[in-house]
Amino acid sequence: MSSSESKLWNDVDAYFSTLLAPEDEALTAALRDSDAAGLPHINVAPNQGKLLQLLAQVQGARRILEFGTLGGYSTIWLARALPEDGRLISFEYEVRHAEVARRNLDRAGLSRLVEVRVGPALESLPKLADENPEPFDFVFIDADKANNRNYVEWALKLTRPGALIVLDNVVRGGRIADAGSDDPGIRGTRAALELIASHPRVSGTAVQTVGSKGHDGFALARVLD
Ligand code: SAH
Ligand code: DHB
Ligand code: MG
Repeated sequence: MSSSESKLWNDVDAYFSTLLAPEDEALTAALRDSDAAGLPHINVAPNQGKLLQLLAQVQGARRILEFGTLGGYSTIWLARALPEDGRLISFEYEVRHAEVARRNLDRAGLSRLVEVRVGPALESLPKLADENPEPFDFVFIDADKANNRNYVEWALKLTRPGALIVLDNVVRGGRIADAGSDDPGIRGTRAALELIASHPRVSGTAVQTVGSKGHDGFALARVLD
């Protein structure tokens, strides 16, 4: 990508986000405090956050599962799609990230709807399954990419028919197309996409995007009835 191309992508994202996905005080403050705490700048872009919110609304989602909370920025967009009796559970490995996220969610007035569970998601998942939770309507997978196939497998166990699974960062500057990649993240994401492609109860696709997060993309997978 040339620098004039990436400037153009940024300008277009800024135009769309300002017009269609403007941040209010809670979202702005969430990013400001995440930055102050030294969290990496890898949250979804505002227009992507709004897409997640719209998808959750289209789903009529009452129960949302998220992998990878970071400072709770995507969590805020998603939780705002929930009704009063809704629930969002978000898995986060880093205690420090979870603490920042909880403050951000509290300020956004969403604490009653959201629970951040700290630890490796693969350790938190069996406990969640043991609680026999009401099936989830929507899953956003955005944590350690090496485990993406495991996360899709768990998502299939924990969702209702008709649920939607969104997998972030499936392009990574085009590296996803390298079948011989030894990058664990690329391998994990390719394995997740292969599961989506081959699973009899799933229908999915993937779309590449350009914008403030460079050349990347997302996959959508619907759990069939
Ligand atoms: N969804 C966020 C960004 C998440 S960044 C947003 O768009 O705002 C990825 C997060 O996944 C990081 O906070 C990282 O600490 C967390 N993570 C990494 N490995 C994990 C694991 N094994 N289990 C749960 N979270 C993990
Ligand atoms: C990274 C992770 C993300 O979830 C993302 O959206 C962008 C980058 C990363 O780990 O580099
Ligand atoms: Mg991401």
